[in-house]
Amino acid sequence: MKTKIAVAKGDGIGPEIMDAVLRIFAANEVELDYEFVEMGKSYFDAGHSTGMTEQAKETIENLGVLFKGPMETPKGKGVKSINVTARKVWNTYANQRDFRSLNGVQTVFSKAGVSVNMTIVRENIEDTYGGIEHLMTNDVAVARRIITRPGSAQVIRYTFEMARRKGYKKVACGHKANIMKLTDGLFLETFYEIAKEYPDLQAYDIIVDDLCMKLVSRPEMFEVIVLTNLQGDIVSDLCAGLVGGLGFAPSANIGDNISIFEAVHGTAPDIAGRNIANPTALLLSGISMLRYMGFTANAATIENALLYTLEQGKHTGDFGDRSTASLNTTEFADSVIASLGKQSSEGGVFSQPNFAAHGNKVQRPSENKLTVTNPDVKEEIMGVDVFVEYTGQPAELAGLAQTKLNNQFKMVMISNRGTQVWPTGSVFTELVNQYRIRLEKQEGIKLSQKDILGIVAELSDAVKVCSIEFLMNFDGKAGYSLAQGQ
Ligand code: NAI
Repeated sequence: MKTKIAVAKGDGIGPEIMDAVLRIFAANEVELDYEFVEMGKSYFDAGHSTGMTEQAKETIENLGVLFKGPMETPKGKGVKSINVTARKVWNTYANQRDFRSLNGVQTVFSKAGVSVNMTIVRENIEDTYGGIEHLMTNDVAVARRIITRPGSAQVIRYTFEMARRKGYKKVACGHKANIMKLTDGLFLETFYEIAKEYPDLQAYDIIVDDLCMKLVSRPEMFEVIVLTNLQGDIVSDLCAGLVGGLGFAPSANIGDNISIFEAVHGTAPDIAGRNIANPTALLLSGISMLRYMGFTANAATIENALLYTLEQGKHTGDFGDRSTASLNTTEFADSVIASLGKQSSEGGVFSQPNFAAHGNKVQRPSENKLTVTNPDVKEEIMGVDVFVEYTGQPAELAGLAQTKLNNQFKMVMISNRGTQVWPTGSVFTELVNQYRIRLEKQEGIKLSQKDILGIVAELSDAVKVCSIEFLMNFDGKAGYSLAQGQ
């Protein structure tokens, strides 16, 4: 019996490149059945605010694998990107992108004889992609960056498992924990915690700016890199550039139950409908999907055919030797089909699985396991950061706040854009109309949440409060950062 997956052709060039890829699959007799689902621009336009029909959602949740073409997010209609929504709703927490130099695809590195072969895993749910943003004053916008211990653990464990399966030796964690000590710090701490379970793999960390510099100067140094969402987004596009651009960048969004395979590029509206788009990125994503589903022999044959085609100098209009005629999408797919059974001079690609082979049965989760935490950790309320809107000078604000304090609290500092401006500061620090007042508990006092809300209510009589943040200790360790200069 054939295995069934959900397929959404997408918008713009989506249908053209998807048809090309499915034709290649058929020519290699891939034992897959497709249920085509209704998603994308026309479903936004028809009033489905999620960009897909209920039936599409149900089909994908039943089948567990979605192979999708790019989809357009209508501008200015207040709708969220269906691509991002799908990744988040179905908890595809690991975004895996494999980058390798391809014979026939010239880059500065291929010309220099440097071969790139690495995998980036990007956390796919958390970070600033929660989209939790607020204007706190007319001048000050704030985004919440959410990094969680279980969310980090999920994607990091996936990365080590994948690295082991693919025979890599080293796993790097890219981060900025030198600046974001709590958020990136938690990701990094979790990385080393999980690394202990994989003593056969060398685990190391690298600050993301240094990583970018090394990636563009010595890309051959790296094998597997795991990163938080935003940094991973930027670094993985940088890596796409190393191997020839977006036309060669596949992406797998992996979850425990549902996984989505797509190209990194968009709908290319400038060339849509002309049958000239490059189907390679979607084909590479499809090859990953075949491996994920356990069709490793098909994956190897099709990948070998693609490599052979590229090596022959066959190309669509967006890459390759300009002095030779480019093929259209259909002709390029025909070339791959004609090359089935051939191997490139690089030798055959591995037929080992890229992913833990996934059946076609989705396990409906009966409980949410990520809420489970360590109940033994002792928490203590240490005080509160109160964010206020104020246009005067720091000393005046301190004087105002002081009049509202009771004997439970002491004011320890005021900062502006994260830099301490009271009790000490520099006249050269420029100020905006939002300050943070840090109140800490007096010696020997035990604070409740009500005490905090009470003092904030008092303060609001003197100054406009924008938001508050509790200062907490966990097992005696501060769960909040110091201000610059504190
Ligand atoms: P894009 O990736 O669609 O196009 C950027 C440039 O690359 C264009 O010049 C295009 O012609 C070219 N290009 C892209 N894919 C190509 C291919 N396979 N063959 C040949 N040339 C190709 O990015 P853009 O223009 O920023 O976005 C267009 C639309 O796509 C937007 O509505 C955006 O929201 C959507 N989008 C969807 C994604 C997804 O479904 N995962 C990802 C990125 C964008």
